[in-house]
Amino acid sequence: MLELLGLVLAGIHFGVPVGYYFYVKRNWLPKPWDIVDKDHMTKVTIIIPTYNEAATIKEKLDNLYCQNYPRGLQEIVVVDSASQDATVEIVQEWSREHSDIVVRQISDLQRRGMVPALNFALRSHETSGEIVVFTDADAYCGPFALRNVVRCFADPRIGAVSASVLPMDHANESTESYYRGYYNTVRVAESKVHSTPIQTGSFMGFRRELLHRIGGLPAYTGNNDCTPASVLAFLGYRAIQLENEVVKEIIKKDQHLRKVRRAQHLLLSFLKTKKYAKEKELYTKSVFDRIWRVEWYLHVVNPWLLPLGAFLLLANTMALVFTSLVPLVIGLFLLGSRTFRMWILQQVYLMTALVRNLWTKDIAWKQ
Ligand code: GDD
Ligand code: MN
Repeated sequence: MLELLGLVLAGIHFGVPVGYYFYVKRNWLPKPWDIVDKDHMTKVTIIIPTYNEAATIKEKLDNLYCQNYPRGLQEIVVVDSASQDATVEIVQEWSREHSDIVVRQISDLQRRGMVPALNFALRSHETSGEIVVFTDADAYCGPFALRNVVRCFADPRIGAVSASVLPMDHANESTESYYRGYYNTVRVAESKVHSTPIQTGSFMGFRRELLHRIGGLPAYTGNNDCTPASVLAFLGYRAIQLENEVVKEIIKKDQHLRKVRRAQHLLLSFLKTKKYAKEKELYTKSVFDRIWRVEWYLHVVNPWLLPLGAFLLLANTMALVFTSLVPLVIGLFLLGSRTFRMWILQQVYLMTALVRNLWTKDIAWKQ
């Protein structure tokens, strides 16, 4: 009996995500993008949050300078939070050297975290573009990124657009590329039918008026991507991830902590955003609810079925029912496969994140 229960839990744990993946890949991914497709050039405010980014910020600005988009329609706002290095000076010098593009440097006087800094920038009168693009100081994009993101906003139903992310150092970072590969497929597929609740904020555009309408970026989370995008999706706008536009992200050290922190923010988004949208009367029923439910289950509940199932099988083995050992041994063997290992690691991040959220939300994180 215990054995059967253990097997069923393990079966659900692996079956639901695999089934969902193949379902969306087959039924949703091939769908055409149902959005107005035309080159839409409008004023854009590009906001870069910085905290001790002296090593990356110059290259970041150089990278933005190469965007294939009229310079007169761009304003770059760098919002810094009490960096202790030369970030601010580097930005000011770069700005002096590039007088053909508007660059503003503003400072949030103390370090409160990325989301509070971005909200500070949104409230400042320096922000006036129809579209706001948030982009990390350590993320680099191709020359058409801005144009491809902005053109989607020609469709009035589009509220948020993000690029897919490619880790810069994927030779050493197999987890990251695996994570991005599997999830990029699912996110793009979800975007085709409505919206995806899981976004990557490394390069992400929002309709500014909508960000104001929802009262800025929700403060209960540390992310600038999944949470506001999901609020907009609940509001009835689409929050999509593009397949053809890729941003490269420098992988900093200490990946495990970073992954747990990102998972914490994602879980906060899953645990609070629907309620938040309803309370603020920003909620309408749509097909996005279905996507939300599946992803909610996959991130909040599904990870826990694995240790539970394994525990039951182990307990059964202790009670001398040795057939229970078979699936456990198979599991151990499968750890030899990279995909399987990465999946397990991802589940560990999610479970650790849920527990860690009990005492810290990591809104202002260590670099
Ligand atoms: N102004 C300000 N204040 N900027 C900050 C702060 C802060 O307290 N903390 C971090 N930043 C800036 C960084 O300088 C960088 O440009 C950007 O925010 C992202 O921070 P990283 O330290 O590079 O973290 P990441 O690569 O894991 O960032 C991702 O995680 C977030 C959620 O956990 C990004 O993709 C974000 O977009 C995402 O929302
Ligand atoms: Mn980063």
